[in-house]
Amino acid sequence: MCGIIGYTGINEALPFLLSGLEKLEYRGYDSAGVYVHTDDGRDMLVKEKGRVKDLEDKTKHYQLHGTSGIAHTRWATHGEPSVANAHPHVSDDGRYYLVHNGVIENYKELKQTYLSDVVFKSQTDTEVAVQLVGKFAAEGLSTLAAFRKMINLLNDDSSYAFLLVDTKTPDLLYTAKSKSPLLVGVSKSANVVTSDATAMLSLTKDFIELQDGEIAIVSKTDVKLYNEQGKSFTRKPFHLNIDPQAAEKGAYPFFMLKEIDEQATVARHLIKHYFVDGIPHIDAAILKSIKQADRLYIIAAGTSYHAGLIGRRFFEKWAGIPTEVHIASEFAYDHPLISKNPFFIFISQSGETADSIQVLEFVKKAHYASLTLANVMNSTLTRDVDFALPLLAGPEIAVASTKAYTAQIITQIILAAALAGGHTDLQGQLSRLAVDMQAVIDGKDHIKALADDYLVNADRAFYIGRGADADVTLEAALKLKEISYTLVEGFAAGELKHGTISLIEHGTPVIGLISQSKTAGLTRSNLEETIARGAKTMTIATKNLASANDEIILPELTGEMEMFGPILEAIPIQLLAYYTSLGRKLDVDHPRNLAKSVTVQ
Ligand code: F6R
Repeated sequence: MCGIIGYTGINEALPFLLSGLEKLEYRGYDSAGVYVHTDDGRDMLVKEKGRVKDLEDKTKHYQLHGTSGIAHTRWATHGEPSVANAHPHVSDDGRYYLVHNGVIENYKELKQTYLSDVVFKSQTDTEVAVQLVGKFAAEGLSTLAAFRKMINLLNDDSSYAFLLVDTKTPDLLYTAKSKSPLLVGVSKSANVVTSDATAMLSLTKDFIELQDGEIAIVSKTDVKLYNEQGKSFTRKPFHLNIDPQAAEKGAYPFFMLKEIDEQATVARHLIKHYFVDGIPHIDAAILKSIKQADRLYIIAAGTSYHAGLIGRRFFEKWAGIPTEVHIASEFAYDHPLISKNPFFIFISQSGETADSIQVLEFVKKAHYASLTLANVMNSTLTRDVDFALPLLAGPEIAVASTKAYTAQIITQIILAAALAGGHTDLQGQLSRLAVDMQAVIDGKDHIKALADDYLVNADRAFYIGRGADADVTLEAALKLKEISYTLVEGFAAGELKHGTISLIEHGTPVIGLISQSKTAGLTRSNLEETIARGAKTMTIATKNLASANDEIILPELTGEMEMFGPILEAIPIQLLAYYTSLGRKLDVDHPRNLAKSVTVQ
């Protein structure tokens, strides 16, 4: 995880670095730091524990006027969050400053072999990297050669995006990556390096993407690229067509609320993108490759895994392909017997989730066919697969995923329909669904009142449902746990009486999800069983299956449309989590211990 950023140009570096760090905060926010080479020739380092705002406040006490610098926002992997462990790290002789996103897996061995005489100032794996560069340069190597030598010593399990400054040439940024994202932004007034495009949109939309193993030396006017063998080459920047406003909160108090609100619009974008003359349109090569498969393996983590659970029903029911859904971190080290002709579908918002990338390595080695559905195109998971399809949700900034989840479900539905050779009036059905999603979003005040009443003061809660609704309970529980810190379980309603019901006490919130006609009555009975034991129940049901007393009544979904129940249910479960977190006065967008992009295994 972690976010890195660097600037070298004609203007002040600090404002760009700090505003970029704020954009990158979703990648980690337990400490932050900045190095600036000042106009009067000083090398200034400021680090602070906590959020980027805390760092920004601290920088006000220093003179940091200068036109080049690097900065970092951290999600701790090795070493607790502290000022000492915050980046940038400095070589013993004070010559080199370095920031890093990733993990150096063999840092202990490197320390023992090469750096036994160095007194380390932090407990991080990263400090090894900068000390190595310092040592190799002191032995006579050029900075580029020392940087390369250090990189070559990192083992294959390591991941990195580095930004290095040599104080002898402070206007040059040395940068390289492997398995962690990195972009070099180019403009007339400055060249910059960041983990993510959103952090540089205020300056430029033109980027050069580094590939694993490549090194770039970025100056104020130029970007020099070197391949793994050290040969210099050129690559044209690409222009990203992205609206900088899309990554701004505007009038919203939190990104999460904005992103919940955007879901109907995202659904419309997907319809517009993926339908041609009313027919779901997916690249013929993708369809051909999937149709040759005897089994689909959906691989994902967290919320994206939950979206895969919903998608599975469509691939099986509509396309008739047996489908398994797996948690990436489990599959990577303990996979089931794989069919003769498998096809792998990766689902990811960020496209950078290390657990999924680990599975992708296995898939590539075995020469299995693969497709990624991702929100961030050009990310690792979209690059290293056979095919990729965009989720078109726009930048998702809040750590808790919302609009990417519904986009993942809708994209899978469209893909399943295309595999089935079309689906009667799917475009019309999804368009009506978008209208219904908006109606649910518009009812948010009512959902806020329910969150205040049921959840804000609860220390535990349960979501129950059956069939597709059971899959949604997992996402509902995850959302509520991660941003409100409530202990929540989501599970199949029928399982309640096999153990969990013993946890129900007077006033325990139990929330039932009901959108599937076959099991609606059974889930209601299970809710009744909890009422008999003192539970305070809340029912979220589609209109056709609702009773007048249900707390949240969703628009009607009958017949085949019933399969879309999870998409409508997604909105109240997200809003309940949002308002519970808000009611507890928590930082909704930045839950503790988390980061948006989980780039470590
Ligand atoms: C939870 C959440 C995470 C992600 C998971 C996978 O709200 O966002 O559970 O879904 O870390 O991330 P991606 O989708 O980027 O692969």
